[in-house]
Amino acid sequence: MKKIAVIGSINMDMTVQTQRHPKVGETVAGHHLSYIPGGKGANQAVAAARLGGDVTMFGCVGDDIFSGRLIDNLAKNNVDTRHIRSVSKTSCGIAMITVAQKDNTIIVIAGANQYVSREYISQEKENILQADIILLQNEIPFETVAYAADMAWKHGKTVIYNPAPFLPVPQNFMNKITYVTPNEHEAALLYGEDQSIEQMLEKSKGKAIITLGDQGAAAWINARSVFIPPRPANVTDTTGAGDTFNGALACGLSQGQTLEEALRFANTAASLSTEKMGAQTGMPDRAAVARWMPAHAPKI
Ligand code: RIB
Ligand code: NA
Repeated sequence: MKKIAVIGSINMDMTVQTQRHPKVGETVAGHHLSYIPGGKGANQAVAAARLGGDVTMFGCVGDDIFSGRLIDNLAKNNVDTRHIRSVSKTSCGIAMITVAQKDNTIIVIAGANQYVSREYISQEKENILQADIILLQNEIPFETVAYAADMAWKHGKTVIYNPAPFLPVPQNFMNKITYVTPNEHEAALLYGEDQSIEQMLEKSKGKAIITLGDQGAAAWINARSVFIPPRPANVTDTTGAGDTFNGALACGLSQGQTLEEALRFANTAASLSTEKMGAQTGMPDRAAVARWMPAHAPKI
């Protein structure tokens, strides 16, 4: 089994549930506040590890009351946390999440995530390069993401880049990425609003894996577009569904699945994650995915 390194954010999600989002200037009643470990980087790490991946997390927390809990939670999920730095006099990343019936809103405060620097990556170089698959997202400084991608590319690693939250990035950065995993909205920003999914996939030179929410996912495999059908879900909270997809994709590839198999695996895992509240709290383990796989991918 290949090793996976996730370089990215570690947040505490403060999630409030409400019937509907307030309009600007309006007050509405919420009915529950929970503190749930999150952050796109940590979420992807937990998703991959829970599904059986060999995962090491690279990132920063602070020295506030949440930071220790976030590391403990990663460790409890079998993520190697030895290389995570604690930054003093800083709080960890925080996400304020409002979950309404149909959708959610998220405001992120970077906190310690802004200290995931090029220097840190270069100090951790040998440890990072132990991995074969490297997962990156946009909740740490982009110059760090670009530096890590360059280092990984020079060493022939598989780099999966989840372009969330969206940022315009230079083409020479994209050239170093093996797979980029936008949702439909991010794909339109990357490849143009007026393009069909097929055109976007082709334009990405086969690098794009586009997640389509309750429509599944699409990728370019053997010079043609392949649509992976959705697993119908009873949606409670979609927070972290994209992260589950990315972590599961990395996990599938690390275990020798073909891209198409890994996409079916990731699709099923992401769909299951939406049936429970919270990002990491909702992520399935391998057995839960396996129960659903026969209908979707007899080959696993
Ligand atoms: O992708 C979901 C994540 O985005 C949440 O866990 C939150 O921390 C934000 O970073
Ligand atoms: Na969820």
